[in-house]
Amino acid sequence: MDTSGNAAILEIKDVTKYFGTVAALKSMQLSVMPGRVHTILGENGAGKSTLMKILAGVYQPTSGSILMDGKPYAPANPQDAARAGLTIVFQELSLCNNMTVAENILATREPSTIGFINDKALTRKAASIVADLKLPVAVTEKVGDLSIAQRQLVEIAKGLSVDAKVVILDEPTSSLSDNEAEILFEIISQLKARGVAVIYISHRMEEIMRLSDDITVVRDGSYITTRDKNETTIDELIALMVGRDMDAIYPARDVPAPAMSAKPVLGVDGLSRDGEFENITFDVRPGEILGFFGLIGSGRSEVMNALFGMKRTSSGSISIDGKQVTISSPVDAIDRGIGFVTENRKEEGLVLSHNVEANISMVALKDYSGAFGFLKRRRERLAAEAEVKRLAIKTGSLQTIVGSLSGGNQQKIVLAKWLLTRPKILILDEPTRGVDVGAKFEIYKIIRQLAAEGTAILLVSSELPEIISMSDRVVVMSEGRATATASGDQMKPEKIMSFATGFVS
Ligand SMILES: Nc1ncnc2c1ncn2[C@@H]1O[C@H](COP(=O)(O)OP(=O)(O)OP(=O)(O)O)[C@@H](O)[C@H]1O
Ligand SMILES: [Mg+2]
Repeated sequence: MDTSGNAAILEIKDVTKYFGTVAALKSMQLSVMPGRVHTILGENGAGKSTLMKILAGVYQPTSGSILMDGKPYAPANPQDAARAGLTIVFQELSLCNNMTVAENILATREPSTIGFINDKALTRKAASIVADLKLPVAVTEKVGDLSIAQRQLVEIAKGLSVDAKVVILDEPTSSLSDNEAEILFEIISQLKARGVAVIYISHRMEEIMRLSDDITVVRDGSYITTRDKNETTIDELIALMVGRDMDAIYPARDVPAPAMSAKPVLGVDGLSRDGEFENITFDVRPGEILGFFGLIGSGRSEVMNALFGMKRTSSGSISIDGKQVTISSPVDAIDRGIGFVTENRKEEGLVLSHNVEANISMVALKDYSGAFGFLKRRRERLAAEAEVKRLAIKTGSLQTIVGSLSGGNQQKIVLAKWLLTRPKILILDEPTRGVDVGAKFEIYKIIRQLAAEGTAILLVSSELPEIISMSDRVVVMSEGRATATASGDQMKPEKIMSFATGFVS
């Protein structure tokens, strides 16, 4: 759709892509204009990343054609695409954890000279890129030591360190806090002003409405329609995307929250870990949903890792059902009835090279082994199947390799895995990151259902609307301390944000 009078920089015509017998794209269409932000919107597994990888030369289409600047464009590999002026920041991080930030940013840019550039020059160059982009990272740090959000920003810096005609950002904000996302939005408007075409993928509707000029909706690998941002609404886009009307994203509680007089299942008292968090105290009752909000780096995930036995604490105590316990490993935690959906699904939550069934039954496995192993395996399979259905996970079969599923569907597998263990206490660290609106609703319904069954839920999220709508109370963290526990009429965005930033009004 030519809205500016210019010619399209990219013209995608009838692109089809098969993986074996799976059609990821069916006769896809897309027309991208220079100097505009074009969002691709669609459910998990709709084919967005596949299309982007074709543009980036990672995959070749089964059929169809692409024009760039009016000329045939068929990159055989990512280097080809880069030479033609196309830059992509992938949905899944592709950084090398044992290299520094500086080495990562410049790695793709100067592959032949890396190792020869002296360290100082490299560091200086990377530092200037990082400073230009106003990124809160030190270029001499090892990427493996950074938080997920910082890694994501490095990934973006890496992608933008080259001059490009087309920049593709596949869910760049999925692990960024609002503040960090602002940095990215600023970068995007600069790119736009330079006449660069930006192709943007996100599941965050407010962000899409703010940033986009054009929005293309895709469903099940097919092109549905393209709208000018000014001529559509969030409701219309969601309906187009899921193929039906959706009235509420946050399901209401149908069982009342437990009374504050009820006995806590988990009590945390003065928990500290040097340099990470200090004097954290809270408790949670069976059936309660306790939210944890804070900006990136506030220490929320660190506290959760400690509760799950992945980090040692320097002082404080943890009690379960009123009895003080020591949790020194994840095995301890699981034994005590704690489940943990980690924010870092690719590294901690999944074995990408294993199939869906193996991943889902990974933690529950001990329940299914033993003398009647054969029968139990059958039961395990049925249970895994039930979870796949309950979460509407889009997978060929239980034998499909998890690494080939779309990002959002991988996230759902991590959730399925823990649901199968029926934990007493379930920690959910950013459970809906990268998940489409329809699937978000499904996950919220499951959280509600688990709470109604008596599971105590610790919900960590950077999305304020999600935290406020789903939690009974919210622990707000800032710089390693719990600055407030909000409940009742304190559960308002401005209030919680002020606790999180330390500007209490
Ligand atoms: N390498 C692969 N091998 C087999 N199937 C694949 C492969 N890559 C993608 N698919 C399948 O193609 C379909 C589209 O996946 P894709 O990753 O493009 O979805 P997406 O729209 O990016 O979803 P999400 O929002 O979850 O990231 C999915 O059904 C997925 O399982
Ligand atoms: Mg994707």
